[in-house]
Amino acid sequence: MNYLFITTCHQDFYHSFGFTPVRVLGKGLAGDVKLARSRDGSNLTAVKTLNKNSPAASLETIQKLFFTEVDILLNIKHKNIIGNIMAYDCPREYVMTMPYYPSGSLTRHLPNMTTYLIDKYLLQLTSALNYLHSRQLVHRDIKPDNVLISQDGDAILSDFGVACLVTTTSVSIIGRMGTPGYKAPELSDMRIQCFDFYLCDMYSLGVLLFNMVVRHLVSPNTDYLACVQHLLTDIGVYRVILQYLLCKYPQMRWNTTHLHNHLASMPHMASLIHQQFGC
Ligand SMILES: Nc1ncnc2c1ncn2[C@@H]1O[C@H](COP(=O)(O)OP(=O)(O)O)[C@@H](O)[C@H]1O
Ligand SMILES: [Mg+2]
Repeated sequence: MNYLFITTCHQDFYHSFGFTPVRVLGKGLAGDVKLARSRDGSNLTAVKTLNKNSPAASLETIQKLFFTEVDILLNIKHKNIIGNIMAYDCPREYVMTMPYYPSGSLTRHLPNMTTYLIDKYLLQLTSALNYLHSRQLVHRDIKPDNVLISQDGDAILSDFGVACLVTTTSVSIIGRMGTPGYKAPELSDMRIQCFDFYLCDMYSLGVLLFNMVVRHLVSPNTDYLACVQHLLTDIGVYRVILQYLLCKYPQMRWNTTHLHNHLASMPHMASLIHQQFGC
């Protein structure tokens, strides 16, 4: 782990670096994400804090969340994954700063989805996941809240709090993390002990695609496949993709290569693929 890249502060982050909190951007288990402004007003940054003495989690859990997220983010670089992060160990909290995205998360943009935006975000998130998976990393919390939208209108995968390096297929070591409604169904089957964790990310991406297609978040109890097969009539090219990502049987679910190849075979994706990969 790159502990050397974590700066130790003797006061809280705001006093140490002359920043002022402006407003809360999001709240999490043991802290929040705030927009902060530098004293001279020239710099806006997002400040993610994990309180060391939170009643919601033990210090050990907080440390695990923080060090995992920082260690992974400091070691990866992809244009659709949050970058330029800095990490601080302050007396009462762990702090991570990252670029501020004024457009917020994908959740806020769901009502305005167009097929162009769905295609673009899906391609960009497939590329980000392919990058992670090829490095044996899984995100484990893919959902619209954890995708930020940049000023250029690109999807930026963020919140690596429960991401991990896949060292085994055993759930006793890796755990059954995920958000209800986005978590692959096999993770909730206590009889199953070994998983393809990469395909769990693909299921969550399927639910996120479902959110983009219907343009809103849905109840965690939704039977996505039944909706895709019987209820949603006008979902065109997304039906096949949704069926293969939301498939209950992981052995039949698409991985990033299958999904990328499928997207690349769609004639209308050619210009987006050119923009994304320059080929
Ligand atoms: N860099 C950022 N710019 C703008 N908003 C952000 C940024 N990072 C996080 N947020 C907002 O804060 C919310 C929570 O941040 P996240 O990193 O997902 O933390 P948590 O672990 O609490 O879910 C996000 O869903 C998003 O709405
Ligand atoms: Mg989050």
